[in-house]
Amino acid sequence: MSQFIIEAVYFLTALLFIYGLKRMASPVTARSGILIAGIGMVLAVLAAFLYGFDVREAAQEHLTMNVALVLIALGLGLGWAWYSGKKVAMTDMPQMVALYNGMGGGAAAAIAATELFSGNAQSHGVVVSILAVLGGLIGAVALSGSLIAWAKLDGRMNGVIRLPAQQLINAVLFLGSLALGAYIVVTGLNGVISFPMIALFFILALVLGVLLTTPIGGADMPVVISLYNAFTGLAVAFEGFVLQNPAMIIAGTVVGSAGTLLTLMMAKAMNRPVSNVIFSQFGGSDDDGGEIEGSMKSADASDAAIAMYYASKVIIVPGYGLAVAQAQHKLYEFVKLLQKQGVDVAFAIHPVAGRMPGHMNVLLAEAGVPYDIIHDLEDINEDFPQADVAIVLGANDVVNPAARHRKSSPIYGMPILNVDMARQAYVVKRGQGKGYSGVENELFFAENTSMVYGDAQKVMVQMIEAVKSLG
Ligand code: TAP
Repeated sequence: MSQFIIEAVYFLTALLFIYGLKRMASPVTARSGILIAGIGMVLAVLAAFLYGFDVREAAQEHLTMNVALVLIALGLGLGWAWYSGKKVAMTDMPQMVALYNGMGGGAAAAIAATELFSGNAQSHGVVVSILAVLGGLIGAVALSGSLIAWAKLDGRMNGVIRLPAQQLINAVLFLGSLALGAYIVVTGLNGVISFPMIALFFILALVLGVLLTTPIGGADMPVVISLYNAFTGLAVAFEGFVLQNPAMIIAGTVVGSAGTLLTLMMAKAMNRPVSNVIFSQFGGSDDDGGEIEGSMKSADASDAAIAMYYASKVIIVPGYGLAVAQAQHKLYEFVKLLQKQGVDVAFAIHPVAGRMPGHMNVLLAEAGVPYDIIHDLEDINEDFPQADVAIVLGANDVVNPAARHRKSSPIYGMPILNVDMARQAYVVKRGQGKGYSGVENELFFAENTSMVYGDAQKVMVQMIEAVKSLG
């Protein structure tokens, strides 16, 4: 196959990746976006396969054996991904993303290892050697870090493990691997390939990934995964340069920049610098909300349901508790009853509601809630004063008004949904437990707020019954 056709296929692949990513920006077009990017990936694999065996001289030796190995690897990868993708539960999606992300980083590190151990990267000069080393370092950190993130999200590893002088150890590991990398590049240019040094370099990088991740709490893992995703993209792009593979360079750059943006957006929506997540503190403030004026009033699920039934505008704010209770189907059943009565119902989604980006959108989509009644914070926040009722289901920090004015609060500055501005607010939660940030919520004590205590799913069942008994 001619080099020209391969290059043309890579170019088409790049266009498909970018167009697919663009379509992923809206839930309405996201499904087709994933399909388009997937087709791009199939083309990229095909082109890489043909390139490897058609153009690259190194691959011509033991050709049959090499083709057989690649086919076995493709078969195993495809089979495993197909099976696990089909059976994964929606709530286990972050773990799966962590695992696949780790595989990407691992693949980039493996390419770096092959190119460095064989001396191939070194023979191509200083730039290629540096890129191979950097890609190897970042890819290995992303691999071991993502595996720890997966173990934490999957409940296989609980709590945070913090070593004495953790930051110092991490700094030594980081500088140590950089120094080894420099040694590999410099000696490699003089034709010396030191196997023990290259092996030690990868070991240090893998240990660094583990130690960077073990002190971070499970609830911060989405940010960490997104960061490692950006690392993986960068590592793949570097190794793309080493292999002179344009599809890898473009896909890696797209993943790297998308991952970086997502990480920054999550950190901004939580009002925390990324460094604060990585160095594992929440907010750098011990303020737990202090004494709040007023008292919490409770209401029955049926009273709240009836208030919504006779309202003209209701805004629903879902949060992590809704996901835990798996109450999305019952919630939508209730919403349909309200709509039948002529109530204008809208959903308000905070960017970091739940535990992963888009968590609430996925949850509501799973229950069949139409996209046009689901609104982002900036689109709906001004509507709260016109709402007769705002109901919060298992959300906490994302509706805490302290974020607007309490300067010492760890969530100060975080954009919040203006539930407190609705005429009447109801908050469904099991008890008086605090939210993820550990601060008391001023909304719960407000004059116009009533608490409906109970598991979100059970409360929804009671609300449905109450409304049905009216009709
Ligand atoms: P949270 O602040 O975690 O509050 C969830 C609330 O749900 C809790 O107060 C809990 O109260 C209640 N709950 C738990 N199980 C329940 C059940 N079965 N039925 C009813 N209620 C239940 O959640 P949020 O408002 O969604 O905020 C998200 C937080 O996560 C933010 O602080 C954000 O910074 C952080 N975070 C988010 C992300 C992303 S990307 N989404 C990433 C990292 C961190 P009870 O225990 O009293 O029931």
